[in-house]
Amino acid sequence: MLHVKWNITQTPEEAGRLAADLFEAQIHAKPACVIGLATGSTPLPLYRELIARNAAGTLDFSRVRTANLDEYQGLAPDHPQSYRRFMQENLFDHINIRPENTIVPDGLAADIPAMCASYERQIEDWGGVDLQLLGIGHDGHIGFNEPCGEFPVHTHRIELTEMTRSANKRFFASLDEVPSAAISMGIGTVMAARKIVMIVTGADKAEILAEAFFGPVVPSVPASILQLHPDVTVICDAAAASRLPR
Ligand code: F6R
Repeated sequence: MLHVKWNITQTPEEAGRLAADLFEAQIHAKPACVIGLATGSTPLPLYRELIARNAAGTLDFSRVRTANLDEYQGLAPDHPQSYRRFMQENLFDHINIRPENTIVPDGLAADIPAMCASYERQIEDWGGVDLQLLGIGHDGHIGFNEPCGEFPVHTHRIELTEMTRSANKRFFASLDEVPSAAISMGIGTVMAARKIVMIVTGADKAEILAEAFFGPVVPSVPASILQLHPDVTVICDAAAASRLPR
């Protein structure tokens, strides 16, 4: 716990800028680094900031490799709600990253276990993740690792909980259209990253943030495992920090 570094900002935009500083430090230190990426609302200010810095010429993605945490099962890469499309629209299409240097699990793979194994292998071949970005779900999920009886180790297929499906339904026409399964890096994949940066914003995340970092390490709160990682930085806004112990 003592090694978790906390940064509390006033706004989500400031959290995005702080996270961008960490990305910039990582990319400057190792231009061919491997970065684990997340989708969702939380990283949007960060992605906007990375795009701005790339446009300003201060941040070069030409050698950076990225591996996304997760993807819905059954959605094609160009589906409006696929995480591949989210990444293209919110980051990749606007920076000088090489398309072949970005990987997202294949939601349409016919052989899911083989695809998961090759995803893990690709990350290993790249030398492992240097910096992993995370958000947190209201139930403590990271990636699509939902609360369960044990921490899943590797990239795997997972049935989504009703809580996650309804949290994500805001992006779909109706709840019925939200896929019922996804592919996600495992907790072991995430924990193998050399550095982890978690961004948490909004009052609705205050309770789970406190539980994850100040409660017991249990698979029913998947993010609680981060207490055991040697290099975690949490960047949260004041609203999300409101339930943290003083
Ligand atoms: C998505 C991911 C998820 C989100 C989480 C929070 O790639 O990894 O674990 O980080 O569901 O989502 P938002 O940011 O939309 O609140």
